[in-house]
Amino acid sequence: MTAPLRIAVTGAAGQIGYSLLFRLAAGALGPRDVDLRLLEVTPALEKAEGVAMELVDGAFPQLAGLALTDDPRVAFDGADLALLVGARPRTAGMTRADLLSANGAIFTAQGRALNDAAGDAVRVLVTGNPANTNALITQQNAPDVPADRFSALTRLDHNRAVAQLAQKTGSPVRAITRLAIWGNHSATQYADLSHALVDGRPARDLVDRAWVEDDFLPTVANRGTAVIQARGSSSAASAASATIDAARDWLNGTGPHDWTSMAVVSDGSYGVPEGLVSSFPVTTSDGRWAIVPDLAIDGFSRSRIDASVAELAAEREAVRELGLIPR
Ligand code: NAI
Repeated sequence: MTAPLRIAVTGAAGQIGYSLLFRLAAGALGPRDVDLRLLEVTPALEKAEGVAMELVDGAFPQLAGLALTDDPRVAFDGADLALLVGARPRTAGMTRADLLSANGAIFTAQGRALNDAAGDAVRVLVTGNPANTNALITQQNAPDVPADRFSALTRLDHNRAVAQLAQKTGSPVRAITRLAIWGNHSATQYADLSHALVDGRPARDLVDRAWVEDDFLPTVANRGTAVIQARGSSSAASAASATIDAARDWLNGTGPHDWTSMAVVSDGSYGVPEGLVSSFPVTTSDGRWAIVPDLAIDGFSRSRIDASVAELAAEREAVRELGLIPR
């Protein structure tokens, strides 16, 4: 019998956790049973205990194990998948350096704990913001775990872009393929329609340039802010859903004619400096990802990718200055 998939989830008492955990328990990653290891900071343990009670009350047939802890080493022990959702949000008066430094403390500790305790097959997906740089810090602090096991979530941006294109062209979401998010999960991200297909037809033949530049790109990049304005709190259910999509595709593979977007450790492809955790179009199979090779990048795309990558390079420099990753 296959052992349950051991999944560590950080930020278990948070908004995303409240949506994510129930989908995981219900089998959203596939037919394999799951063993959930919930990690929270000590003051939020009681709240997380309430979430754990509700998970029990769900009587999920695939939920084979459930534990709650404030110790990353316990949460990550033998983990096959680590979903790093918990992070320190920016609060009033916090500078960017303060934010990087507060999150740096969390992700250096979690990187070390993953290095020491995680299972040999572990995949680490960082949702907590700033996701790309938090993933970089985690990866750099887990030197014994192969670098290709770390990813940051840009799937929500990818899904938002797919949904906007589907709405604009009056097509079902499943008709949209080969869309790509490049760069950072931030307002500088670039949602690239150049290679996207709608029912096999090039998207660029169906939408005009003005819509792409004036409507599509800003809508996708600023969607998180728009949701906060409308809902009064941040996009948690769609972020949880995207985290599930990303983990499921990473473990189970993308379809034969499509790709997805994942922020992964760059090998220098497409001029993205080696080592940065940047979003690329990727295919996945058997738990491994590969950057889609040889795509033509036009001048507009090049400048947008370069701008987002420059932001990532500046974030890497800032966390180096703070001593959170080696020089
Ligand atoms: P939230 O504030 O509701 O929950 C965060 C939880 O993380 C809290 O319960 C907190 O106690 C916990 N936490 C903080 N430090 C921790 C640590 N060291 N170990 C374990 N748990 C810890 O926030 P929400 O809405 O659940 O969002 C979580 C993160 O996801 C935020 O950083 C948010 O910005 C990010 N996010 C990322 C998206 C993406 O597309 N990459 C989309 C939406 C949100």
